[in-house]
Amino acid sequence: MPIDNAIYDRLGSGWWDESNPLNALNGSFTPARFAYFRDVLDRLGRDPGGLRVLDIGCGGGFLAEEFARIGCRVVGIDPSEMSIRTARQHASAYSLKIGYAVCVGERLVLPDGSVDLAYCCDVLEHVADLDRVVAETARVLKPGGVYLFDTINRTRASKLFFIKLLQEWRLTRMIDSDVHSWAMFIKPTELEEILRRHGLRLGEVAGLGPRAGAVSLGWNFVRVRLGRLSFGEASRLMDVGRVRRVDLSYLGYATKSL
Ligand SMILES: C[S@@+](CC[C@H](N)C(=O)[O-])C[C@H]1O[C@@H](n2cnc3c(N)ncnc32)[C@H](O)[C@@H]1O
Repeated sequence: MPIDNAIYDRLGSGWWDESNPLNALNGSFTPARFAYFRDVLDRLGRDPGGLRVLDIGCGGGFLAEEFARIGCRVVGIDPSEMSIRTARQHASAYSLKIGYAVCVGERLVLPDGSVDLAYCCDVLEHVADLDRVVAETARVLKPGGVYLFDTINRTRASKLFFIKLLQEWRLTRMIDSDVHSWAMFIKPTELEEILRRHGLRLGEVAGLGPRAGAVSLGWNFVRVRLGRLSFGEASRLMDVGRVRRVDLSYLGYATKSL
């Protein structure tokens, strides 16, 4: 069954609203992902000030706004018109200068070698043509440019967590839609091979996952289902962050050869 990417248009006006299911990606996810990415930039000795940054599949702009706040010149692209509209309105309400465009990652409307940093966060497992998206990302990166990502591993654990618990089981599912397909999840070795094919050298893969205990996680999903907990609060209570295991989600970086 194809995944439901139309949901980003149907629900995309509410990315920043804690009662909207898409807001579950903010809460503890955005701070955890951004802290890791900042750490990578520090370790690579890249000063974020003034970097030209491309957010591929930016959704409502959670991460684009974080990068803009530390002085990056950010462009966010997404195929969902409604998401781009919401991202634009939110950035403007907070006086953030971010360029947004409706566009797919498979055909980026940017010249070759034009960005210092590109990232795909929770996007690679949604795209129609993964190889093309990585090829396009490599094309628009400058030599020596940095690619940051997070995505979902294809394992038994990810099937249990992302498909069964969050999508299929009536009592715990966060959303009444097939936002994910297990077959589209990506093993780190597969991603490394695709990156390599397009001239991007993998630097690191690190685990990203909930640090809350299993009972509290399950109970909070039930509370969301019953309407007693917002998606934003549930996300914070999941306490997503760096974990040792990489069998659920993982993040990492790659660099384009000089
Ligand atoms: C789970 S959301 C992630 C949003 C954002 N990156 C974040 O982490 O907050 C997945 C996003 O990927 C976008 N998307 C789906 N197919 C895409 C494609 N082919 N190219 C670029 N983005 C795509 C969707 O519209 C959606 O906004």
